[in-house]
Amino acid sequence: MKTEKIGIVGSGLIGRAWSMLFTSAGYQVMLYDILPDQLSAALEYIDIELHRLEEHGLLRGHLTAEQQFKCLRTTSDLKELSRKAIFIQECIPERIEWKRSLYQQLDDILEEQTIVSSSTSTFMPSLFTEGLRHCHNMLVSHPLNPPYYIPLVEIVPAPWTSPQAVEFTRQLMLEIQQKPVTLKREVLGFATNRIQYAILNEIWHLVDKDILTVRDIDTVMNEGLGLRYAFLGPMETAHLNAEGIRDYIQRFGGEIHKVSETYDAIPKMEPGPTLDKIAEQCEEMVPRDMLATRRKERDAFLTKLSALKKEFEK
Ligand code: NAI
Repeated sequence: MKTEKIGIVGSGLIGRAWSMLFTSAGYQVMLYDILPDQLSAALEYIDIELHRLEEHGLLRGHLTAEQQFKCLRTTSDLKELSRKAIFIQECIPERIEWKRSLYQQLDDILEEQTIVSSSTSTFMPSLFTEGLRHCHNMLVSHPLNPPYYIPLVEIVPAPWTSPQAVEFTRQLMLEIQQKPVTLKREVLGFATNRIQYAILNEIWHLVDKDILTVRDIDTVMNEGLGLRYAFLGPMETAHLNAEGIRDYIQRFGGEIHKVSETYDAIPKMEPGPTLDKIAEQCEEMVPRDMLATRRKERDAFLTKLSALKKEFEK
C-alpha cells in the first residue's frame, strides 16, 4: 500500500470507477461530494463491487478487495480533500458553470504539488482553468465508460498546462494500468469523440436512406471492423492489409477519396423521423427495461476481452 493521497471530487458513476482504479494500485483515496448520501452510496457500491470482482477473479492489482477498500475515505470538506493530495480527479456533472465554480474554489486552496485533472468528456480544459493561479497544474484526463474495463484515457492539456503536469498524469495512468494517450494540444471532442462522431454521422445517413438497419450497422462494427480494431488500430490494419501503409494508400487512396466524395453533409441530429426510426430499431434490439442487464453483459464481455488482450500483449 502507498502513503500518497489521491482526491476524487464527485462520487457518481465515474468518480466511483476512478476510486477503484486508484485503490487497486494501493493509493490512499479520498472521495468528496456535495451530497453526503451520494458518498455513503458510493462506499456501499464500491465495497460490493470490489468483492464481486474478487470473487470472479477480476480484481485489478495485487491487493485484496478488503485491503483496497481500506484505502478509501470520504469527506464533505473540500479543504480536507485537497490537503496533501498529489492528484485530484474531478468527476462532477458536465455543466460548465459548475466546473468553473469548482475550479475557482479549488484554486484558492490547492497546494503547489497538486495536479487537478477533469473527467470531462466535452469541455476543453482552457474553458474552466483560464486565469487560475494553479492553471499550469490543471488538465483533462478523459476516461471511457466503464473505465474499470476500458483502459483508454485521453490526456488533454490546456495551452498553459506544464509539461511536468502532463507527464506526471501520464505516469500515474500507466501505474494504475490505464492506457493513456496524450493530445499535444486541446481540440474540441478530443480524439475519441471526433472519430466516434464521424462514424455516427455516416450511420445516421445510412439508416435515414434505408440502406441498412440499426442491427446490421452494429453487425458491421461488432462482427467486422470492431473485431480488428480490438487488437490492431485502423492504421496498423491498413499497414498490414497491403505491403505497408504506402502501398495501401497507393492502392486504395483513390477509392477512399471517391467514396468519401459521396458522403452527405453533416446531419443535424435532432428529434424527427430519422431519430424515430433509429430509436424504434434500437429499442427493438434492446428494450429499455433490458438496458441494465445488457450493460452487465457488456462489462462481463469487456473484462474477458481485456484479459485476452493482455495475453497478446505479453
Ligand atoms: P454523475 O451524475 O453520476 O455523478 C456526479 C457526482 O458529482 C454526483 O455524485 C454529484 O452529487 C456530484 N457533484 C455535483 N456537483 C458537485 C460539486 N460541486 N462538488 C462535488 N461533487 C459534486 O456523473 P458522471 O457520469 O460520473 O460524470 C462525471 C464526469 O465524468 C462528467 O464530467 C462526465 O462528462 C464525465 N464522463 C462521464 C462518462 C459517462 O459515461 N458517464 C464517461 C466519461 C466521462
